[in-house]
Amino acid sequence: MAKILVTGGLGFIGSHTTVELQQNGYEVVVVDNLSNSDEKVVSRITSITGKEPLFEKVDLRHREEVRALLARHRDMDGLIHFAAYKAVGESVEKPLEYYENNIWALVCLLQEMRNQGLNNFIFSSSCTVYGQAKELPITEHSPVVPANSPYGNTKQVGEEVLQQAVSAHGLNVISLRYFNPVGAHPTAKIGELPLGVPLNLVPFVTQTAAGIRKQLSVFGDDYDTPDGTCIRDYIHVVDLAKAHVVAVKRLLDKKNSQPYEVFNLGTGKGSSVLEVIRSFERVSGEKLNCKIVERRPGDVTAAYADTTKANDVLGWKAEKSLDDAMADAWRWEKAVRGL
Ligand code: NAD
Ligand code: WQD
Repeated sequence: MAKILVTGGLGFIGSHTTVELQQNGYEVVVVDNLSNSDEKVVSRITSITGKEPLFEKVDLRHREEVRALLARHRDMDGLIHFAAYKAVGESVEKPLEYYENNIWALVCLLQEMRNQGLNNFIFSSSCTVYGQAKELPITEHSPVVPANSPYGNTKQVGEEVLQQAVSAHGLNVISLRYFNPVGAHPTAKIGELPLGVPLNLVPFVTQTAAGIRKQLSVFGDDYDTPDGTCIRDYIHVVDLAKAHVVAVKRLLDKKNSQPYEVFNLGTGKGSSVLEVIRSFERVSGEKLNCKIVERRPGDVTAAYADTTKANDVLGWKAEKSLDDAMADAWRWEKAVRGL
């Protein structure tokens, strides 16, 4: 049984990926410092899969902890690195904390992996590296543009660090550029748990429907799009998790065509903010209290993926619809709130 370390494995995408890995016969070691997650997620994962993943409480910013972790698991076959801070606005307030957690910890991890002779690595990147692309849909050849936040820059720099480390140290890396991950596990046992007021659209939608937020602000309806609201590629987190299983297998089977590969992970379909709201209302039967307000600074007008490369090369395709994602996000919100 191949053994995979999943950093950030108790977080939103990491927990779903742990489930998919276990369900595909992998042994998973979950590594997390609980900075944005709860240890209870371990038992929730176990209740879905029937297998308890080993949980290692490790802070990846601390080199000695990383060294000891990898020494304990030098028999691992690969590592998926989700652990990072991810709030765009917060990164403007705390850029140094973002560089420490998203870059310094990455460098520590890579150095310690190199020292142990471990070389299969999957990196969580983001569509944010493309900014407002000139051409849609966005292919992997679309230019990476200067980031407009420290968070975005950590993803660009992270990719550069990996690309350069690959050639120098014989690593095999796949960077996965996620579009907008949404939804939750259909069992409603794991999902997104934003601390405080959600910044992202879908948790704000579900919290508004649950009565935790009074009103959903729609940030601008004067964009150059069919209904005036911004367009994004919302991908169900379970589909995203499955892509990681495929990517891991590609590295373990040595099927990667280059030591550093990049794939866009999205559905290929753009949805506007109003379409998301309509989808949610349709599947939940709830009416959302919405108000059109000013644009949010920094938002791009439209971003959606060209998924040809992931479809053809990885043989992976998103299967779930926006309605599926909204239904699962709502089921999860209700479970969390006891509704
Ligand atoms: P998340 O915050 O839910 O999960 C990250 C997990 O990493 C958390 O459980 C946190 O406790 C842990 N963590 C953070 N710093 C750590 C450290 N120093 N040591 C150990 N554990 C640490 O985030 P997510 O939404 O699951 O995102 C996972 C990855 O995907 C991140 O790298 C993020 O930047 C990237 N990403 C996310 C999105 C998105 O919209 N959710 C989009 C594109 C890319
Ligand atoms: C989606 C749309 C908002 C909230 C962010 C990060 C990006 C990536 C994914 C990690 C936009 C609108 C939102 C609300 C709204 N993360 N909106 N009212 O901005 O596409 O991407 O998450 O890599 O880096 O920037 O996602 O969910 O915040 O917004 O109208 O209360 O919903 O304007 O058009 P975004 P989002």
